[in-house]
Amino acid sequence: MKRTSLQRLDIVTLFPAMFEGPLSESLLGKARERGVVQLFIHNLRDFSQDLKHHKVDDRPFGGGAGMVIQAEPVYQALGHIEKAGRSRFSKHAKPYVVFLSPQGRPLRQKVAQELSEKPWLVFLCGHYEGLDERAMRYIDEEVSIGDYVLTGGELPAMVLADVVIRLVPGVVKELTSIEQDSFQNGLLDHPHYTRPAAWRGQKVPEVLLTGHHEKIQDWRKQQATAATKKKRPDLMKKRRVL
Ligand code: ADE
Repeated sequence: MKRTSLQRLDIVTLFPAMFEGPLSESLLGKARERGVVQLFIHNLRDFSQDLKHHKVDDRPFGGGAGMVIQAEPVYQALGHIEKAGRSRFSKHAKPYVVFLSPQGRPLRQKVAQELSEKPWLVFLCGHYEGLDERAMRYIDEEVSIGDYVLTGGELPAMVLADVVIRLVPGVVKELTSIEQDSFQNGLLDHPHYTRPAAWRGQKVPEVLLTGHHEKIQDWRKQQATAATKKKRPDLMKKRRVL
């Protein structure tokens, strides 16, 4: 059965300019240019109810430090995106909405794989102390890129966009390069070498020069296992038996 894959990604942010470089360069830029994945950046302020200052945040009920993003601009932004995207999808299509926050599901290769199989994604970047809880019912899931707190969801959204888009078929040309990624089989990657075969007294491991495909595969697997045991013993424990 053919899997569905990501066709459109909408990002809602308070800082659209932050996305200009990272998502226009390199592989992601090419994926966009070739139309493999459509990408749209939306400024949350455009959906503010405050026509004068375009404010989207307010003080927290109950007191406390920081500001909270209001629910209404988020609701309006999502409504706008749904209408705009329906020209590409069916009339009743709904995007899968991800909120980037430190409270979310930890990002792993498996999470990226799942998201890359959704035809239409929205990433909502948080800021300040958080989002009015009442907006949560319009969000399908929260994702965190790690147990540390960034100033906002923009960098996490870029990380997530990168890992997800490179898994979309046609973005990375050689499929094997994805199949051999670190984490794809629960192991870290094996070491890589390129020309020259001898460099400042260091030689490339002999087996890689033999052209013996099977032996090379065995060596790489053994190296990947050794590296994982040494650098990430926690992954070894979790690893499914292949
Ligand atoms: N926003 C702030 N910190 C974050 C994190 N670690 N992951 C996702 N979004 C965030």
